[in-house]
Amino acid sequence: MRRKWIAWILPAFLLMGCGQKAEEEIQETDLPEETAETEGSQETGYSFSLDTKTVTLNSGWSMPVMGLGTYSLDHDTCVNSVKTLLKNGGRLIDTAYMYHNEEAVGQGVREAMEEYGIDREEIFVITKIYPTQFDNPKEAIDMALEKLNIGYVDMILLHHPGENDVQAYQALEQYVKDGKIHSIGLSNWYQEELEEFLPQIEIMPALVQNEIHPYYQEQDVVPYIQSLGIAVQCWYPLGGRGYTAELLNDETIVSIAEAHGVSSAQVILRWDLQRGIIVIPGSSNEEHIKENLDLFGFELSEEEMERINSLNRNEKHDWY
Ligand SMILES: NC(=O)c1ccc[n+]([C@@H]2O[C@H](COP(=O)([O-])OP(=O)(O)OC[C@H]3O[C@@H](n4cnc5c(N)ncnc54)[C@H](OP(=O)(O)O)[C@@H]3O)[C@@H](O)[C@H]2O)c1
Repeated sequence: MRRKWIAWILPAFLLMGCGQKAEEEIQETDLPEETAETEGSQETGYSFSLDTKTVTLNSGWSMPVMGLGTYSLDHDTCVNSVKTLLKNGGRLIDTAYMYHNEEAVGQGVREAMEEYGIDREEIFVITKIYPTQFDNPKEAIDMALEKLNIGYVDMILLHHPGENDVQAYQALEQYVKDGKIHSIGLSNWYQEELEEFLPQIEIMPALVQNEIHPYYQEQDVVPYIQSLGIAVQCWYPLGGRGYTAELLNDETIVSIAEAHGVSSAQVILRWDLQRGIIVIPGSSNEEHIKENLDLFGFELSEEEMERINSLNRNEKHDWY
């Protein structure tokens, strides 16, 4: 039997900012046949739009489909990158307890709001709590809220599976109910981990953030997660620091970039977006940050998507 998928009506989020909740106006559409019978399919889904450049999450909150990653950015660099992103129209920032730069992200957000006249509700900030914090999750969440110092947090993820992860997630659920966090999700959870985890929790994760790039594509895992009504976001979209040169100089990517008059980075990020994957490339460079936001003036053909798909090597660039 085909299950029903609840999709948010597009015009509702054409009218709203990114940190705002969609009108509770919904319509039912059929799930694609191949996902209709997926175990765990939820009554609410997400809606990803290249027209509005936003994804409306299963939590009802809207998130930009492209943003900035801040892994390995030191304090001053991070403040600058966040402000550069916000000055140039970007509205999504990813940080984590483990990056030791939540204060810098908060500072960048507050300064940009004041200097560029941006409302807090337009900005979407993600942070993560680490497995070493799972045995005292309330302390971890309160610390993140305090370090960021931007009122509510748009989204908190569990950074990795680990001991007491269900307990930590349940604490996140309570903060959602209290309105201090809008949406919650997971990072580095794959199919087996999700199958074990999801029956133990109440609020469906809005997002899973995993390693994805042309050399590690997750062609099975991504549609599986998406079929659950959970949005997918990729880390190391450009291969990660230390690996970018090979990927950006890959002859297939370079030839597609030349055909469109764009950069290799833009081709890779656009390939993600056309798979319905949210991108958060990390950068300390103003020109790169601007370039990474400029992903909507060209489209990859099916043949070009296939050529990039054929580059997959199942080559992870980190241990988790
Ligand atoms: N959940 C997890 O476990 C996890 C793990 C790793 C990362 N993450 C998140 O994912 C984000 C992205 O990953 P990442 O930053 O490590 O790696 P990445 O985005 O794959 O690559 C970042 C590298 O790409 C370069 N770069 C960025 N834009 C470019 C462009 N347009 N042209 C040429 N080079 C460009 C950057 O150099 P410049 O600084 O010179 O621009 C930097 O060296 C992280 O920042 C973090 O927020 C999450």
